[in-house]
Amino acid sequence: MERRRVPHDFLWGGAVAAHQLEGGYDKGKKGISIADVMTAGANGRDRDITKGILPNHYYPNHEAIDFYTRYKEDIRLFAEMGFRCFRTSIAWTRIFPHGDEEKPNEEGLQFYDDLFDELLKYHIEPVITLSHFEMPFYLVEKYGGWRNRKLIDFFVRFAEAVMVRYKDKVKYWMTFNEVNNQASVQNPWTGWTNSGILYQPGEDVQTVLQQAVHYQMTASAMAVRLGRGINPEFQFGCMLAMIPFYPRTCSPQDELAAQIAMGHRLYYYGDLHVFGEYPAYMEAFRREHGISLDITELDKKYLKEGCVDYIGISYYMSGTVSSVETEDSTRVADGIYLARNPYVEKNDWGWQIDPQGLRYSLNLLHQRYHKPIFIVENGLGAYDKLEDGTVHDSYRIDYLRKHILEMKKAMFLDGVPVMGYTPWGCIDLVSAGSGEMEKRYGFIYVDKDNQGNGTLERRKKDSFAWYKKVIESDGEI
Ligand code: BG6
Repeated sequence: MERRRVPHDFLWGGAVAAHQLEGGYDKGKKGISIADVMTAGANGRDRDITKGILPNHYYPNHEAIDFYTRYKEDIRLFAEMGFRCFRTSIAWTRIFPHGDEEKPNEEGLQFYDDLFDELLKYHIEPVITLSHFEMPFYLVEKYGGWRNRKLIDFFVRFAEAVMVRYKDKVKYWMTFNEVNNQASVQNPWTGWTNSGILYQPGEDVQTVLQQAVHYQMTASAMAVRLGRGINPEFQFGCMLAMIPFYPRTCSPQDELAAQIAMGHRLYYYGDLHVFGEYPAYMEAFRREHGISLDITELDKKYLKEGCVDYIGISYYMSGTVSSVETEDSTRVADGIYLARNPYVEKNDWGWQIDPQGLRYSLNLLHQRYHKPIFIVENGLGAYDKLEDGTVHDSYRIDYLRKHILEMKKAMFLDGVPVMGYTPWGCIDLVSAGSGEMEKRYGFIYVDKDNQGNGTLERRKKDSFAWYKKVIESDGEI
């Protein structure tokens, strides 16, 4: 399997998001995004979300790695590795600084024109996420984020502006990054990053969550419908955080608990994107819990007409579900606990490392959806050490190697159509979860620490040459 080669048009590349690497948070008439009001946390300590930008606080996304001015240098390095595609997002606040303007900001549009031209110069295909945890902060303040139906129009206006402008430069689009991430309502910041929502004491979290999801799904479908009219060649994907849940034991109760968790945290979102309709168990859940949502007949029509072409996924880890409380478990709902899996290792942030889980995930998704799958995030966050001017990151090579091997097994042994693979944070960037710089994923080291000190100089790690060879050989590892 190590020697098997994937088709030559396979989309090898790397992935990032605008707010995690661009910096230039106030350049080019850009507005403040929800990422701009998140302070730095630490390993095991959440980031704070402040009411606007406050003095004496450190906001790591403001400068990030200054890709905004250094992108040419970085793209040259991506080209040297042989990237065939580069996944990034368009910062909504560069195009519509407040989010509710009628007309887009020309300076923001021009920035992405230049960026895409630079990529295309090296035959690197841009793969674009429209909303990656960076909606305008103003939309939160004035409209309550995705609690509000008006957000649909604002998002669609943004999507239309960029799809029209880049119709000859971008073919692959995704609407909402890890749209299902917000299902983990135990992490208060997932409601914020996905939807600009902080749950208020006493409100019914499920009602708020499901309403926001409905508006996002409708907006996604409307953007897809519109995009097909702009350029019929466009390919649209959803983007799901793929964390397969294994039952902790083979007891029927644990099996059922894992099935319910998968239903609520993954298939609910996938079914809306791929089939354009709600799965029956979600309708039942709403009936049983007396949840009533604002869903119109027109929304339903749009949902059906705006189904996606491919499934984008992030895959970092698997999870384990128990129906009863165990040592180390965390309750997520009645009779559903996230438990520890003794069969897999963890990284320094406690994320389970499970390469076989990737093959398992690809099969699950393909068996349900029968669509091509694009692995748009995968990677190892690690503490790197600079030695002799480089980083000897054999642990990262080992992680990626094992995951690529399992991806190839899914392709060759199981017949899963995988379109491409873009490891996360191909250049070191700001962690979304903790705001750290020192949780590093890149093939390229960036000289900057958790406090914001450093020269921002770029250096190739050992994994740089390794990944270059993988691409050159169409996936020999
Ligand atoms: C995904 C996100 O959740 O995981 C990225 O799409 C994020 O934005 C990545 O950076 C890794 O998470 P973290 O917390 O290590 O940055």
